[in-house]
Amino acid sequence: MSKKVTLNYEGKEIDLPIITGSENENAIDISKIRSETGLITLDKGYKNTGSTTSKITYLDGEKGILRHRGYSIEELASKSTFTEVSYLLIYGELPNIKQLEDFENRIRVHTLVHEDFKIILEGYPSKAHPMGILSSLITSLTAFYPESLDPSRSKNLVDISIARILGKFPTFAAWSYKKRNGHPIIYPDNKLDYCSNFLRMMFELPSEPFKQNSVITDALNKLLILHADHEQNCSTSTVRIVGSAQSSIYPSISAGINALWGPLHGGANQAVIEMLDRITKDGNNIDKYIKKAKDKNDPFRLMGFGHRVYKNFDPRAKIIKKAADNVLEKLGVNDPVLDLAKKLEKIALEDQYFVDKKLYPNVDFYSGIIYKALGFPPEMFTVMFAFGRLPGWISQWKEMRENKEPLGRPRQIYTGENARKYIDITKR
Ligand code: ACO
Repeated sequence: MSKKVTLNYEGKEIDLPIITGSENENAIDISKIRSETGLITLDKGYKNTGSTTSKITYLDGEKGILRHRGYSIEELASKSTFTEVSYLLIYGELPNIKQLEDFENRIRVHTLVHEDFKIILEGYPSKAHPMGILSSLITSLTAFYPESLDPSRSKNLVDISIARILGKFPTFAAWSYKKRNGHPIIYPDNKLDYCSNFLRMMFELPSEPFKQNSVITDALNKLLILHADHEQNCSTSTVRIVGSAQSSIYPSISAGINALWGPLHGGANQAVIEMLDRITKDGNNIDKYIKKAKDKNDPFRLMGFGHRVYKNFDPRAKIIKKAADNVLEKLGVNDPVLDLAKKLEKIALEDQYFVDKKLYPNVDFYSGIIYKALGFPPEMFTVMFAFGRLPGWISQWKEMRENKEPLGRPRQIYTGENARKYIDITKR
């Protein structure tokens, strides 16, 4: 017999079916509550609301499990490249050699951007945050490829739009950094692999030709993979809800970039480094900041700690912590910020406040430290998160369209004024 729960309201009983996922996780299907009782459900911040069913990513926050299309994040991060994981997320299976070559070639031919993008870029003030630049450049793609506005026209068109955004995103990201520094932009070199091409566009200077470094390329692949998807988080839900209005891929992903920017979400990696710098400047007084984080009247939070769904260790944080040690050692970087982060983590993990609230380091706690060691400035950290999350957003947008999901439109409980008479402006 299929499972159900029974809702008893004002003497009426309604059976609500239980939906079971492939990992035996259960949800109550509440879709008929309103038509049967007039009630809606209220769940601010969607803390316990499933917005969709999805075949892309499975995570168990209690057990610290994260899998994409069935493959564990630990295996993907140690064995795959970022383009391979992108293919997996978007098309559902790990590619064979030929499929991967085709996919990478399809992306490669789209790395160059229209010269007019340089004019848009020039219009920004030099200190513009690269996340703002990036989101507007991604939306601007619709102006250069208007056919992308109607993805229902053909599957091929969707594939081209996907290759285009994967190809152009690294170019835009690197150019937004060059803009901030006032340095000349670097054009893509399609002889290089995906990550090396991006690193060259970021770091090459007229006086310093780019040298490939496998430690840096490997670290970048790993970091991007670790951020590649995370089911229905704030930015991904934003992408899906914008896409549910049948908005096309570029504006939907641009909306995701804006959602990610916030310090409670992807902006946390920049906020972590700023917090660690602040603690360093304050004489490494960790206790003071732990106290501040616990004080209800103090808005300070321990950035990089806590997660909406992980109530056990974030598996990505474990991998990143190890990678941070490894990368810094291989690059010969001795960053006291890493030692400070480790001390802070240890103290927080033993503190009753953090233990009781199940607050563990999240993916952002150590990622900024690696990015810093690789030469990225803090304002690029969230851009790097967006770069990693790109295939996740694409796959979620694609799945949402293929499933023909309805327009996303939550309800509310109104708590404002009751109907009242309009008062003429002279009598107010
Ligand atoms: N420092 C101090 N206290 C915290 C922290 C923190 N980092 N995180 C949560 N808490 C406390 C809250 O004050 C709250 O306490 P209360 O129950 O006494 O009111 C309790 O723990 C639960 O926190 P909520 O904010 O209600 O939980 P939520 O699931 O909404 O928050 C969030 C998750 C936003 C990530 C939160 O832990 C946070 O702000 N962390 C710092 C920012 C951060 O690192 N964000 C990145 C998240 S990962 C990602 O998006 C990639």
